[in-house]
Amino acid sequence: MSNEKHSNYSVNEDSQYEIDTLTNDRLLKDHSYDGIQELDNDLPPWWKWLFYLTIVFGIIYLVRLWVFEADDLVQNTEYKIEVDEANRLYQASTLSQNTELEMKVLTDANSIAAGKDIYDKSCAVCHTADGGGLVGPNFTDDYWIHGNTMEEMFQIVTNGVLEKGMTPFKDQLSPQKRLEVLSYIVTLHGTTPANPKAAEGDKLDWPY
Ligand code: HEC
Repeated sequence: MSNEKHSNYSVNEDSQYEIDTLTNDRLLKDHSYDGIQELDNDLPPWWKWLFYLTIVFGIIYLVRLWVFEADDLVQNTEYKIEVDEANRLYQASTLSQNTELEMKVLTDANSIAAGKDIYDKSCAVCHTADGGGLVGPNFTDDYWIHGNTMEEMFQIVTNGVLEKGMTPFKDQLSPQKRLEVLSYIVTLHGTTPANPKAAEGDKLDWPY
């Protein structure tokens, strides 16, 4: 009974496969439900290669984990490294926040230049590049809303005055940088800006 004919497939006795009569492709053996069969197609090459790669990856992974005990794979070591790093960062940040920073105006050229960079980038939008004021108050006149000592100005730059639109910079600028930008602002006092904003606050003696 060779080549027994069914509705849409034939059984080839010589081979171990059944062959689809329409496409001549292989059919899966013993897979006939209500006369419907599946083609026994080869898997696509990209799929096979992906599979081989996972095997290679798995072998490398196991060798690294069990033979070489790689630092980034052994969980205990990984944990220890991360905790050490976190402790280091924590200490660095509390150190820089807590060391008493002397509230004095910096006068060396490097600090003033660094302060000007920060000012042009972060402050000029609101206080204008020449310090004449726009959204924020004028830095060149003798009138100050929150006081004009280094301590008072430092407090404002650190914590901002959110309800009035002054940004807090404590997360963006280190204490040293805040001191630099304020030292630059001190150099703007007494200069003549192009469009000075009307005085705001109280007339105060200039402490520097
Ligand atoms: C988004 C706008 C904005 C930016 C950006 C901004 N400021 Fe201000 N600043 C203001 C406003 C508005 C005030 C007034 C706050 C008030 O009325 O209490 C102010 C007030 C101040 C004061 C107090 C002035 C006074 O008369 O007492 C200082 C000092 C100051 N800013 C410094 C800075 C520095 C330094 C930067 C950049 C690192 C900066 N500001 C960036 C809007 C801004």
